[in-house]
Amino acid sequence: MNNFLSNLRKPEGLGGWLMLTSMNIGHSALSKWGLKQLEIKPGDSILDIGCGGGKNISRMLKRAYTGTVCGLDYAKASVEKSKSLNRKAVLTGRADIRLGTVSRNPWQDGTFDLVTAFETVYFWPDFAHDVREVRRVLKPDGLFFICNEINIPEKGKQPYQFWIRALDLKTYTARDFHRILTDTGFTGIVIQVKGKNGICVSARAQKEA
Ligand SMILES: C[S@@+](CC[C@H](N)C(=O)[O-])C[C@H]1O[C@@H](n2cnc3c(N)ncnc32)[C@H](O)[C@@H]1O
Repeated sequence: MNNFLSNLRKPEGLGGWLMLTSMNIGHSALSKWGLKQLEIKPGDSILDIGCGGGKNISRMLKRAYTGTVCGLDYAKASVEKSKSLNRKAVLTGRADIRLGTVSRNPWQDGTFDLVTAFETVYFWPDFAHDVREVRRVLKPDGLFFICNEINIPEKGKQPYQFWIRALDLKTYTARDFHRILTDTGFTGIVIQVKGKNGICVSARAQKEA
């Protein structure tokens, strides 16, 4: 994989810092569309997995204005950039941004009202296992929200073939999301599609597995 492009998978060093800045801008339209689909309450406790440059943490802090927004990312550069962008919230304890992998989520069971994943599930090593980890840290009835620019369209050609190959992305159909989320203890699954290929998926953690 081209070195600079590999910063989309795991940002590192100066190239990573530049990529994180560019993702904060380049992903804005998709993120804003996704966030419009979400009900966020002022006191919510939220986790953004694969938080990248931290822009979605900033956006959600505005809506959860008495709550907390945490971030998790396995790249040191992402954690540093997210902390720097949300410095005030980190200092006042409204944001807690940690280094770690989605496969071993560092938070305790039943911590969050909402867990979000923007443009990151393509890289998760074992989707079903990692989604179970999301469910573990959600409160009963808490919401898991995935927002992706690239998925497998139900009909027609894949417009993102170059990126899928270049970055070795794992992509899913709407049906795959529905099946995996159902199998891992989620219910009330709602899937919305934006234009040719944007997708967001929301699902509630079942009260009992
Ligand atoms: C394409 S970027 C998206 C960043 C941000 N969510 C956005 O929408 O701009 C993917 C992010 O997911 C993170 N990531 C990938 N695999 C991960 C894993 N297994 N655990 C935690 N973070 C991961 C990467 O380090 C990167 O910051």
